[in-house]
Amino acid sequence: MAIAIMAAGKGTRLKSKHPKVLHEVGGKPLLAHVIAAATKVVPPSDVYAIIGHEADRVRAAVAGSGIGFVLQSEQRGTGHALMIARQALAPYDVVIVLSGDAPLITPQTIELLRDFHASKKAAMTLLSAELENPTGYGRVVRKKTGSDDVQAIVEQKNLSSAQRKIHEINAGFYAFDAQPFFSHIDKLSSDNHHGEFYLTDMAAILGKARARVVAVQASNPHEVLGGNTRAELSEIDQHMRLAKCQQLMAEGVTIFYPHTCVIDNDVEIGPDTVVEPFVQLRGSTRIGSDARIGSYSVIQSCEIGDQVLVQTGCVLEHSTIRARASMGPYSHLRPGCEICEDAHVGNFVELKKSRLGKGSKANHLTYLGDAEIGERVNVGAGTITCNYDGVNKHKTIVEDGVFVGSDSILIAPVRIGKDAYIAAATTVTEDVPPDSLALGRARQIVKEGWAKEKREKAKAQKAK
Ligand code: UD1
Ligand code: CA
Repeated sequence: MAIAIMAAGKGTRLKSKHPKVLHEVGGKPLLAHVIAAATKVVPPSDVYAIIGHEADRVRAAVAGSGIGFVLQSEQRGTGHALMIARQALAPYDVVIVLSGDAPLITPQTIELLRDFHASKKAAMTLLSAELENPTGYGRVVRKKTGSDDVQAIVEQKNLSSAQRKIHEINAGFYAFDAQPFFSHIDKLSSDNHHGEFYLTDMAAILGKARARVVAVQASNPHEVLGGNTRAELSEIDQHMRLAKCQQLMAEGVTIFYPHTCVIDNDVEIGPDTVVEPFVQLRGSTRIGSDARIGSYSVIQSCEIGDQVLVQTGCVLEHSTIRARASMGPYSHLRPGCEICEDAHVGNFVELKKSRLGKGSKANHLTYLGDAEIGERVNVGAGTITCNYDGVNKHKTIVEDGVFVGSDSILIAPVRIGKDAYIAAATTVTEDVPPDSLALGRARQIVKEGWAKEKREKAKAQKAK
C-alpha cells in the first residue's frame, strides 16, 4: 500500500506568498502533520508527496521525514496530480490519497479507510463526514440513503438545488485499487467550472465501469477540516491546541484556562506541573514535574527541570533551566543559556550564551552575555557584562563564591577569582585574584554645609 499526499496547490484563498501546505497549525506546517499520520501507517519510503507550487521550499521543509516526492509542475487539479504520480503509484495494490491541507487526519482514520475499502471489495472508498455547514465542500451522493454505495461526488459549484441540502461532504481522503484507478484515470476531463481535472469525478467514472465505489463516515467530523482560508487555519489550530491541552491534562498537568494557552504538539510536560493562563510553550520545549509556568511567559524549545518556577512574563529561548531554579518575573534568556540547580534569575535580567552556576543569583536589572558564572555567586543589581567591543565578543568568567556589588561593570575578557569581592559601582577592567577586593570608582568628596549655603543664597537673591 502507498500513501499519496496532494500538496502541489498554491492556496489562492490564503492570499499569501507562502505555499499553503507550509502554513502552520499547532506549531508545524500543515504538510508535516499529514506526513506524521501517514508514516505511522506505512513506512516513509511508501509515502509520496505530490508537490508543485514552490516545490523546492516544500521539499526542503519536510525532507527530514524520508518520504518520496512527485513533481506536478503545472497544477491542473487533484485528478491531474494523481495522473502525474501514476509511475510512482501504479506498482502498488492499494493507494491511499490524503490532502496536504487537512492536518487533523489520524493514523486510526487512515486505517479505517484501508480496512473498510478491503472489507467492501471496493475499487474506490472515500471518507465522508456530516458537517453542519457543508458550504465549499464536495457533496456525497449515495445510490440510496443508508447504502454504502456512492453514485457521485458533486463539487460545490455544480450542486443542484436538491443536492445543496446534502450535509454529507467528501473529506478529500480516498482509498483506490491501483489497477482499476489508473486504467480509468484518463477518462477525467477538465470540462468544468474551474477547467481542472477533478479527482472526485473518479467516483462516477468507476461506477459507470461497474467498479464498486463506497463511502465511510469519519467518527470525528473535525478530523476532515481543510485549511483553505486563514479562518479555517485558525479553527484547525484551535482544535489541535485544545486536543494537546487535553492530552497533557490527562497525563497529570494542571492547565487553568486551556483555551488561552498555545502549546505546540511536540511539547512534553511532567505531572503536577501547573500552567497558568496565557502561556505559550513552543517547539521542542520539555518541562519536568512539579514546575510552575506563570502567565504571559513565552518559552521556545527549552529544557526545564523539576520544580522550576517560571514567574509571570518570562521570554525563554533555546536554553536549559535545571531543577528548582527560579526565573522572573520578566526575565529574558536568549539562546544558549544554562541556569543551574537552585539558581535565581530575577526581574529585568537578560542572559545570552551564559551559564549561571548552582545556587547563584542575578536578581535585578542585569545583563550577562558570554559569561560563565560559578556556584554561589551573588550578582548585584544592575551588573552589566561588556562582552562586545564593537568588533568581537569576549568572555567574562566569575569563579565560585564571588560577590559582585551592585552597579558593577565587567569589561570582558576578564576573570574574577574564587571568593573575591567586587565593591559596588566598580568598573572591572583587569582580572581579579581569588579572595581579594576590587574597588574602582571615584572617591567620594563631602562638602559640609554646601547645600544649606546654596539655599540661603537663593533666598537672599529673591528678596532683592
Ligand atoms: C477538495 C475536493 C472536495 C472536498 C475537499 C475536502 C476536488 C476537486 N475537490 O476540494 O470534494 O470536499 O477537497 O477538503 O478534489 N492539489 C494538488 N494539485 C492540484 C490541485 C490541488 O496537489 O493541481 C492539492 C492541494 O494542494 C490540496 C489538495 O490537493 O492540498 C486539495 O486541493 P484543494 O484545491 O484544496 O481542493 P478543495 O477545493 O478543498
Ligand atoms: Ca482543500
